[in-house]
Amino acid sequence: MSGRSSIHSGSVLARLLWLVIVSSAASCCCSSAAVNISTSSDVIVRCMEREKHALLQFKQGLVDDSNALASWESKEDCCEWGGVACDNQTGHVIMLDLYYNLLGGEIGPSLLELPYLYYLDLGYNSFNGTIPKSIGSLSRLKVLKLAFNFFSGSIPPQLGNLSNLHTLDLSSNSVTFENLKWVSQLSSLRYLNMSYLNFSRAVNWPQSISQLPSLMELRLILCQLPDVDMASLSFINSSTSLQVLHLPYNFLGSSVFCWIGNVSRNLVSIDLHDNRMKGPIPNAFTNMDFLLSLDLSYNQLEGGIPKSFRSLCRLETLNLLSNNFSDRLEQSIGNLSCAQDTLKSLYLGDNLWWGSFPDDLTRFVSLQELDIDNATMSGSLPKSFRQLSQLRTLRLGHNRLSGSFPDVTGLSLLSTIDLSHNQLNGSLHDSLGQLSSLTEIDLSRNSLNVVLTEVHFLNLSQLLHVDVSYNPAFSFRVSLSWNPPFQLDELKMASCKVGPAFPKWTLTQRRLSRLDLSNAGISDSIPDNFWDLPCSLSLLNLSINQIHGRFPNLTSRNCRIYLIDLSSNRFCGALPPFHKNVSALLLSKNKFTGDLSSICSTQAPSLEILDLFYNLLSGELPNCWFQFKELLALNLANNSFSGKIPSSFGSLESLYQLQLQRNNFSGELPSLENCTRLVLVDLGFNNLSGKIQAWIGSSLKEMWVLQLRSNHFCGSIPSSICSLPLIRVLDLSQNNISGVLPRCLNNLTAFSLVSQEVDDLPVPSDFVLQHIWKGAEREYRQDVRYLRSFDISSNNLTGVIPENITYMLGLRSLNLSRNNLTGLIPGKFGQLEVLEVLDLSRNHLSGSIPDSFTNLHSLAVLNLSINNLSGRIPSSTQLLTFIESSFAGNVGLCGTQLNTKCPGDGPSEDPEVTGGAESDGFITTGFYVSIEIGFFTGFVGVCLTLLRKTSWRCSSV
Ligand SMILES: *[C@@H]1O[C@H](CO)[C@@H](O)[C@H](O)[C@H]1NC(C)=O
Ligand SMILES: *[C@@H]1O[C@H](CO)[C@@H](O)[C@H](O)[C@H]1NC(C)=O
Ligand SMILES: *[C@@H]1O[C@H](CO)[C@@H](O)[C@H](O)[C@H]1NC(C)=O
Ligand SMILES: *[C@@H]1O[C@H](CO)[C@@H](O)[C@H](O)[C@H]1NC(C)=O
Repeated sequence: MSGRSSIHSGSVLARLLWLVIVSSAASCCCSSAAVNISTSSDVIVRCMEREKHALLQFKQGLVDDSNALASWESKEDCCEWGGVACDNQTGHVIMLDLYYNLLGGEIGPSLLELPYLYYLDLGYNSFNGTIPKSIGSLSRLKVLKLAFNFFSGSIPPQLGNLSNLHTLDLSSNSVTFENLKWVSQLSSLRYLNMSYLNFSRAVNWPQSISQLPSLMELRLILCQLPDVDMASLSFINSSTSLQVLHLPYNFLGSSVFCWIGNVSRNLVSIDLHDNRMKGPIPNAFTNMDFLLSLDLSYNQLEGGIPKSFRSLCRLETLNLLSNNFSDRLEQSIGNLSCAQDTLKSLYLGDNLWWGSFPDDLTRFVSLQELDIDNATMSGSLPKSFRQLSQLRTLRLGHNRLSGSFPDVTGLSLLSTIDLSHNQLNGSLHDSLGQLSSLTEIDLSRNSLNVVLTEVHFLNLSQLLHVDVSYNPAFSFRVSLSWNPPFQLDELKMASCKVGPAFPKWTLTQRRLSRLDLSNAGISDSIPDNFWDLPCSLSLLNLSINQIHGRFPNLTSRNCRIYLIDLSSNRFCGALPPFHKNVSALLLSKNKFTGDLSSICSTQAPSLEILDLFYNLLSGELPNCWFQFKELLALNLANNSFSGKIPSSFGSLESLYQLQLQRNNFSGELPSLENCTRLVLVDLGFNNLSGKIQAWIGSSLKEMWVLQLRSNHFCGSIPSSICSLPLIRVLDLSQNNISGVLPRCLNNLTAFSLVSQEVDDLPVPSDFVLQHIWKGAEREYRQDVRYLRSFDISSNNLTGVIPENITYMLGLRSLNLSRNNLTGLIPGKFGQLEVLEVLDLSRNHLSGSIPDSFTNLHSLAVLNLSINNLSGRIPSSTQLLTFIESSFAGNVGLCGTQLNTKCPGDGPSEDPEVTGGAESDGFITTGFYVSIEIGFFTGFVGVCLTLLRKTSWRCSSV
């Protein structure tokens, strides 16, 4: 649906601006026309030699790569040159209009030789250097436009000498100025535009402007205008003829209203959007009898529409979008009553209004645009709604509106309706079908209880965008042969009752670019001719249905399609060659069978995402992956692929997600050294072997997640693994890894820092990780940013736990269990204060449990069992929550949890031992069991218990 930006600045303002442009352009045309007429009549106008010379001199300083001034050489009479106009009586050059000619270079002083010039427009070129002082001597100048160039340096104060000037446009240059004194001398000035200049030092700008008695239009857009200094306002006693005041994108606070209230009584249009105004709207509008347009959007104004607005009887546009208004909406609307007949555009959205939709609004009979989107409005739309006969755009989305869709009979101009994200729970009035101008309707995310029939679409021949998604009780009853009166661009019926039959009428829509029928209760096969998709289609989402059939061979289709999402259906059969112009192909959770050999027959250079997760695919992977150069995410997990991982994976240089887990891949990993963008690598639960190669750490610097769990990797951990600054999940468990733990683990930045910075990970929206946390497999998406897990359990590690592990201050889960680690538990273990899971069980650790364990306040799972630990279990409330099994199998340990007294303890009462680590009990039972539970709703049913013995021999290379 189209966004807000188009309405943001208000159409009336745009029209006013347009009038200014047209009128100035018109005056220019008149004078040049006059010149032409005179040259063709009896009075022969020849330009002055001296002025011609000056023009040529001026041209010499310019860079004219596009040869825009060619006529300046071909013609003798300079009055006939492009952009030059002379007085028809005297022959003096009076106008120089070189607007938008791609000219560059510097302006020399030669302009001084054109003393009769009254119009000079050099706007929208690439002039640089300083604005020449000499312009200040062109005393007849009335119009000076230098906008959108690269002039730099300070503005010459001599410009203040131009007492006849009525139009000055210096906007968008790199010029600087300390104050605006020179401007206040321009007593004839009517139009002043200095937008995009830096006003941060011109604190007295309001005084300077107030001294321009003839000023009608002031435009200072994005000027870093400082707030108005209230103290200086008392000096202002003059008032101007200002009508148009546009000061958006500045630093103005509410005190600007005090200035506005005094500067003019003629204001027609005020634009102050994107400033820093806070608090309620002050009482500055009582005398603005002529005000047509007011834009205060994107500030932090509070309260409501003040009583002073009751005198605005001509108001046509009011824009208060995105502030903090929190008044009762009905009350605020009451203060607009004088504009009841004139108001055409009302934008109140993105505020905190409360109360119901104001019935009074339906008396604003001229209203064309109404936006009260996202404003916590409740209640239902009134019966009188159809009085708004001029309405074109209606945006009331993101509120709490309930009830039915109103009677809209007679609103024949209405073209956009957005009632999305509300609580509408009634039906749709049949009059909807009469809205012959309707192009866009968004009713998504309501609870509409509607059986949509052909009546609802009767005259909607202009309709382009339809979104009725997420209305669970919204169903369709149209005849099989229905031929709708429209050709849609976008149709979204996700999570509605569309099925069980496939909606054949969608086949009549030959201009669709987006079609979303996901989760729509369709349990049918797709009609054969459906796959003759319109060329315009770029997004196709049929996911989460029970659609059966085969995925067709689309290779002959020549149109680009961005997304095909058929995931979670019952598609079956072999995969055909991929469509060569598809970007994302999501086929997960279907019943596709066979191997992937077909994919080599087409080049699919634009394929970015290929998701075949959870199908019945098998066989060896073909070695043609260099054809998919743009591939970003590849998920082949949970299939039965076997054989080696092909070496051509190494050419997938854009790849950031590689998921091959839970297949039967074997052999060694090919080099992925060039896949330097990888952030997620999951190869878990395969039969891969060989050493963990050093390039993993030295090349894959972007990696967040590396899971190699349950394979036959062997050898020692390369120390290069410590140079993965972003890694937050490192799971090497259940392999044959030997040697000692690297001494550099504290270099893993994400593990070692507890800071917001580490959490600020730019996780792509399609990121999905299956990770075992506290023994159960869970799915992580955006929340991967908070994971910090290091698991190297069930390997053959020897040696001691290096002290530097206690500097991995960000760790939330550490599992070193089931190795052959010896020595003491480092004394500073308690530094790992955010640790939630700690498993050191089944090693040969000796000595006592360090006292610092009492600092492990977040610990929810603790297992130190089956070691050689001795001494007293340190006592803290947290440690008391663990039961015997956390400590069992350590002959020398004593303490409450083990129900054994330590030497030297006096007689004591029975230790009170409470429940302990509830849900994680299985870790402490001594069996290392990893249970995978249903990880997608609707796809429960697979429940694997894996009991792996790591008795494979390390194949030597
Ligand atoms: C000369 O131009 C003026 C406007 O600049 C116009 O009013 C006048 O009619 C013109 N005279 C001739 C002879 O074209
Ligand atoms: C001024 O413009 C000329 C021509 O466009 C260019 O060659 C020169 O580098 C520019 N000077 C500066 C300071 O940008
Ligand atoms: C709703 O408005 C609030 C301001 O009141 C804004 O912060 C928020 O982003 C808006 N939400 C949407 C969905 O536009
Ligand atoms: C797919 O279609 C193309 C073009 O129509 C054809 O050349 C190719 O043989 C087909 N492939 C399969 C496996 O059907």
